Amino acid sequence: MRKPFVGGNWKMNLNAAASRTLADDLARAIATDRLDQACDIAIFPPFVYIRHVHNVLRDRSSSVMLGAQDVWPEPSGAFTGEVSAAMLKDCGVSVVLTGHSERRHVIGEGDELINRKTRAALDAGLQVILCIGEKLEERTAGQTDAVNERQLRAGLANVPAGHLNRLTIAYEPVWAIGTGKNATPADAQDAHTKCRAVLASLFGADAAGRIRIQYGGSVKGSNAGELMTQPDIDGGLIGGASLKAEEFLSIVRAAAAAPAKGR
Ligand code: PGA
Repeated sequence: MRKPFVGGNWKMNLNAAASRTLADDLARAIATDRLDQACDIAIFPPFVYIRHVHNVLRDRSSSVMLGAQDVWPEPSGAFTGEVSAAMLKDCGVSVVLTGHSERRHVIGEGDELINRKTRAALDAGLQVILCIGEKLEERTAGQTDAVNERQLRAGLANVPAGHLNRLTIAYEPVWAIGTGKNATPADAQDAHTKCRAVLASLFGADAAGRIRIQYGGSVKGSNAGELMTQPDIDGGLIGGASLKAEEFLSIVRAAAAAPAKGR
């Protein structure tokens, strides 16, 4: 069965004190309500607050995974401003995002770099959430499935089957991110089914049936329930709503309460 997985992508928000407070509020509530029994949970602070959040999670012996929003594919060297997978592990990070739409479309990363990042993080023993999704004009042109397929095939090129147990996909339609417009549960489910079929053609049906596919894009407490009960939606990647403890927790609760999925 696939355990749901909810990530909170804080993006470039908060400061040191607010990062500590949010991490502490989440760790406390998740432990008290034992939400981690039915749901994996990760938070992705800005690089500079990873240490602060790490210390909070350590002091609470929290099961919440510490995530990073990005990683550079090379292990070390003259890459000013970048951070390697080994450095992230050294700071207690266990999961990284690759291919987030803001890195693709605001910062200009291409599929080849995203693939190198994905492979470097997996090779280093980290978990990876590979984010994919179509832009509005691509959706309007009927290209949603083709874009997702291209981003999956390119992002996962040469990823060894032995690393798939540390891979999660996040389907995040770009037009739904930060806009308040989420995909309908039926549209999201449809996209997830097609993504799983691409994963099956790459890695076989059994492996594809075990890979979790999160939905992302304007998920909040009020729409999480209907999204999380879809049979191929295995949790969510949450931006804006992850900055408020109660809102994020209500999404985690919805994911934890959803019926078991997979075989
Ligand atoms: P949002 O962001 O929840 O603010 O739409 C989602 C994401 O970028 O992962």
